[in-house]
Amino acid sequence: MAAKELSSRYRHAFITGASGGLGLAFAKMLLAEGIRVTGTARDVARLASLAKDTRFTPLALDLADAPGAERAFREAEVAAGEGGFDLVINNAGYGLFGAFTEVDFSVWQAQVDALLSATARLSHVGLRSMLPRKRGTLVNVSSLAVEFPLPFMSGYNMAKAALSALSESLIFETRGTGVTVIDLRPGDYRTAFNQAMQPTVHLSASDPRLASAWRELESHLATAPLAVAAARDLRRALMRGRSGTVRSGSFFQARIAPLFSRLAPARVRRAIIARYQGAS
Ligand SMILES: NC(=O)c1ccc[n+]([C@@H]2O[C@H](COP(=O)([O-])OP(=O)(O)OC[C@H]3O[C@@H](n4cnc5c(N)ncnc54)[C@H](OP(=O)(O)O)[C@@H]3O)[C@@H](O)[C@H]2O)c1
Repeated sequence: MAAKELSSRYRHAFITGASGGLGLAFAKMLLAEGIRVTGTARDVARLASLAKDTRFTPLALDLADAPGAERAFREAEVAAGEGGFDLVINNAGYGLFGAFTEVDFSVWQAQVDALLSATARLSHVGLRSMLPRKRGTLVNVSSLAVEFPLPFMSGYNMAKAALSALSESLIFETRGTGVTVIDLRPGDYRTAFNQAMQPTVHLSASDPRLASAWRELESHLATAPLAVAAARDLRRALMRGRSGTVRSGSFFQARIAPLFSRLAPARVRRAIIARYQGAS
């Protein structure tokens, strides 16, 4: 019954980063709902398990090449036919761990280009095709790091904060158009996110807080909810049919901490977050 309802809202979804973690869970959830999915990875071989479903179309896309990503989207949308994509989920992303000054600026720059500029570009092309049809949803997967910045992940924090700011702008601009925008902010989820972190000057750096912050990050992810829980939250948000910010994660991270954060003075909030993250 409920499955029928989601497929009555959406026909064909486009998801970046569908080869693992949250994106894979989103793709499986949508396919189970009877929705067609075009999902991306840098290497389409990593989409082989999803491609066993005839309603899934694999697509190569690398956020490091923003014009190429836009081209891939456009071509896939033409190939999708029947009005293109009515659900665009910008999920792909990666972390980068290291002290700001100890990592080459070009490495931070590349991360911001991929996570922010390329994602904004896909938001742009996605909305441009949904708005004339007066229906569809754009989901930008940001992070609770927007509210609780992760220690030694300045590029990631910066890109996700700006991505949420973009989504907030688009929520405003799409009011009354029939198109909705969701700023999805996951907390910690047990995915390959930390394993995929770009190798950098991790733990050998001069600041001993790097090692403890890394340990804490790994321990939070190891005990975090599984990606299917994020897919359930996304499904609920899509069923609501409204634009907005959606926090997803453990009860503590997605409910208690944001509430506390609104009430506590900034100095106290920073001290508690630093301790929780092993960076005090
Ligand atoms: N897990 C968490 O705790 C958590 C918390 C908050 C937010 N998030 C966000 O959730 C999203 C998904 O993360 P995840 O936890 O599922 O991580 P994951 O398991 O590492 O999956 C990341 C996905 O993004 C793709 N990807 C990575 N770099 C890419 C690039 N340069 N171009 C194109 N695709 C790329 C990967 O595909 P290939 O490597 O196969 O190309 C993979 O499908 C990310 O935006 C992340 O920032 C995660």
